[in-house]
Amino acid sequence: PATAHPQGEEPSPLVIAHRGASGYLPEHTLAAYTLAVLQGADYVEPDLVMTTDGQLIARHDNQLELTTDVAARPEFADRRRTKNVDGVELTGWFSEDFSLAEIKTLRAIERIPAIRPGNARLDKSLEVPTLQEIIDLVKDLEKSQGRRIGLYLETKHPTHFQHLGLAMEEPLLEILRRNGYHGRHASVYIQSFEVENLKTLHRLSPLRLVQLFGSGQPYDQKVIGSALTYEQMATPAGLRAIAAYADGVGPDKSYVIPRDANGNLGSPTDFVPNAHAAGLKVHPYTFRAENNFLPLELRSSANPAEHGDLEAEIRAFLDAGIDGLFSDNPDLALRLRVQP
Ligand code: G3P
Ligand code: CA
Repeated sequence: PATAHPQGEEPSPLVIAHRGASGYLPEHTLAAYTLAVLQGADYVEPDLVMTTDGQLIARHDNQLELTTDVAARPEFADRRRTKNVDGVELTGWFSEDFSLAEIKTLRAIERIPAIRPGNARLDKSLEVPTLQEIIDLVKDLEKSQGRRIGLYLETKHPTHFQHLGLAMEEPLLEILRRNGYHGRHASVYIQSFEVENLKTLHRLSPLRLVQLFGSGQPYDQKVIGSALTYEQMATPAGLRAIAAYADGVGPDKSYVIPRDANGNLGSPTDFVPNAHAAGLKVHPYTFRAENNFLPLELRSSANPAEHGDLEAEIRAFLDAGIDGLFSDNPDLALRLRVQP
């Protein structure tokens, strides 16, 4: 099928455009995915959440005001809610309280305009795309670019949506099937932080799956769907257990090469060789030009001095033997893949 790649013919290491080319255009917009492809990215990475009518849309958060103009829209003022999402009390506007038709009236905005003022200039011109619109775009770009372009889809908050009667797994697999994405050689990965979600997908589909590993914040084990913490899952035994349902792991960068208290890169850990020994690909996240991506007040105290040179960082990770990486700046990662 048109959406498959012969085994072994994918570029390596894979360059995955994180939320599209989100260093240059507002994340999770068709414009950001298009730019990523024009830059040469192998995969685009839509994060997925659900609408109240069961449609899959691309947002990093189900909390819509973080990346749309919903808070400035008087007609939705009464839609503001306080609710528990994965053990955290949040107040805002949530995708599960909006129909797709309502979502389509919203406009995407830059998440952190202070860091990316160029992106903010595009606010109000870009829609929130559905998964189907992203697939249509990718297929058009495959034709115009004459090459395979992959989808690296992330299910966001699947347990939360399941509790609301909006389970993501079947609708996601159905839309992929309908669009010709079948089997292990389809140009698709599905990734999640949540173990039970991945195990369900593994039972239902042969598509390739990736277990994400979080770092630096508390995670609710009931939400992850595992008695183990991510740190415990990162051991050789934990990685072998993951290999029973997944093809790869997507660790926070610190699992592969930690930084010291001054923000300097240390030596690679055994994570990559241990994952490879378990038969797993390793696709760490996130490589971005603005290593000071977060405003000062939001930076993790565990990593106060994260800074530096993206090129040197990517080179160090390529040397550590990774199989792919998520980057907001796919153009730079692609250049380094060709000219290490
Ligand atoms: O999916 C890899 C990486 O994207 C996970 O982090 O929060 O950017 O979705 P996040
Ligand atoms: Ca993601």
